[in-house]
Amino acid sequence: MNLAERIVNIPPSATLAINAKAQELRSKGKKIISLAVGEPDFTPPKEVKEAMLQAVEQGYFRYLPVPGTLELRQAGARYFQHFYGVEAKATEIMFSNGGKQCLYNLFQVLLNPGDEVLLPAPYWVSYPPMIQLSGGIARVVPTRVEDNFKLKIEELEKQVSPRSKMLILNSPSNPTGITYTQEELEELASWAISKGLIVISDEVYDQLVYAPFKPASLASFWQEHKESVAIVNALSKSFAIPGLRIGFVLGAEKLIQAMTKLQGQSCSNICSIAQAGALAALQGDFSFLERERQSLQERRDLAWNFLTELGLKCPRPEGAFYLFPQVKDFFKGEIKNSTDLCAYLLEEAEVALVPGIAFGDDSCLRISYAVQQEVLREALNRIKQALTKLT
Ligand SMILES: Cc1ncc(COP(=O)(O)O)c(C=O)c1O
Repeated sequence: MNLAERIVNIPPSATLAINAKAQELRSKGKKIISLAVGEPDFTPPKEVKEAMLQAVEQGYFRYLPVPGTLELRQAGARYFQHFYGVEAKATEIMFSNGGKQCLYNLFQVLLNPGDEVLLPAPYWVSYPPMIQLSGGIARVVPTRVEDNFKLKIEELEKQVSPRSKMLILNSPSNPTGITYTQEELEELASWAISKGLIVISDEVYDQLVYAPFKPASLASFWQEHKESVAIVNALSKSFAIPGLRIGFVLGAEKLIQAMTKLQGQSCSNICSIAQAGALAALQGDFSFLERERQSLQERRDLAWNFLTELGLKCPRPEGAFYLFPQVKDFFKGEIKNSTDLCAYLLEEAEVALVPGIAFGDDSCLRISYAVQQEVLREALNRIKQALTKLT
């Protein structure tokens, strides 16, 4: 069968490959610990489960409006009001299957073939293939570990061209955990607007920031620049419900209408039962988030202290649940890059990690610390032993 070029040219997911290898080793009896996962291990707020059970009991199984029910979109607007003081209308909000489909929809409705997207690296794995699927071209803008992986306007200036259409910002970042302050976000967005670009702000980890840091968002900036900014959020990480696939976009009405048209011709509304759960989460008191933040902060401290005591260069993340240490000093002999090092650590330490190359930086690897502290400690000790054998 001849498959379409658009799919043949897309690389397979590096994270899925690691997980498949870890599964294979597990099936052979190895006690693999996975720090490769991109999801929190918390039990979601009980209101979510109750609302979903009730929806099932009440037979809430019909088709719903494509962008989400009015009530749910109003609850989405309440989110931006509650955390960022933004007055948004329900018609400026849309729900899709996770942050992922929100981004996919955005690229599809905003990019024409040949349009360039400024993409700061290290970047989340799915941006390049999604941009490619829409016919766009990712122009990678490097950042440096020495600058805490923060994006510099002079680097953006080097990559911007008359074909540039969009800038992607992702704070807190997957894979580095690096988090911009409100001022930094606005400075980058203002630069983009001065160049006529659209800013997509991926804020799926906005609530997972650690004291004294406060959640920051371009939502308030969007109010003044509705035609040039769109905000992506999701309940996957912050409410620990990734499998329910709930993401939402805040954007100009015209943009929301275009994405509604696209989604109406692809998957229609997101699952009705998941919408009931999302509504409960968004109408709740958000106290769940504080408990989650505290727990993740303790794990961040444990893992970051451990890695820096090992002598690894790793900026201390202020958000999300990832660390992105530089490991290039271990590239010797058979181990030539981050993929080889992750394969070695999987065999030798029985710990699954994601090679930095998947995020556009081959000198690093990604560690997810969203696991219980005992498991984290055990995994880090195993990594230390395995790395010591290489020195
Ligand atoms: C930066 C970033 N954006 C978007 C997503 C997609 O999230 P969702 O699971 O809600 O589709 C992820 C998930 O890993 C992510 O890390």
